[in-house]
Amino acid sequence: MIYLRGNLGAGKTTLVRALLHALGYTGRVKSPTYTLLERYEAGRLHLRHFDLYRFRDAEEWEGSGFRDEFDGHNICLVEWPEQASGLLPPADISITFEILQDGREIMLHAYTDAGRKCLSAL
Ligand SMILES: Nc1ncnc2c1ncn2[C@@H]1O[C@H](COP(=O)(O)OP(=O)(O)O)[C@@H](O)[C@H]1O
Ligand SMILES: [Mg+2]
Repeated sequence: MIYLRGNLGAGKTTLVRALLHALGYTGRVKSPTYTLLERYEAGRLHLRHFDLYRFRDAEEWEGSGFRDEFDGHNICLVEWPEQASGLLPPADISITFEILQDGREIMLHAYTDAGRKCLSAL
């Protein structure tokens, strides 16, 4: 579970697109701004890209089937996780984007053993 934090235009979707392409996915990667979720298969990996910016309603969550995506196998990348706090599983990793006057600052934090294992492999 990877939380992506930062303002609109900070680069969250761009990072997901680059990650998918680096994993060999050759299709189009569009922002799930309206669909809230896009699903991708890259090699053996199942990736789920959420953008919860427009998500408002906890009841909608139960009807959406999103919970089924958190099965311990899917790699979930979640933009605007704070929109569904209390509904999402906790993060293994958070990536925080900040736009600076000259470029961007990206901060990575690991919260679990799985997360630490990923970050120490970078
Ligand atoms: N690391 C980066 N360096 C330069 N431009 C970037 C970078 N990341 C994103 N952008 C540009 O910023 C714009 C918005 O990025 P996007 O990934 O859609 O932001 P977010 O998903 O955080 O709202 C895009 O035009 C993209 O090309
Ligand atoms: Mg985005």
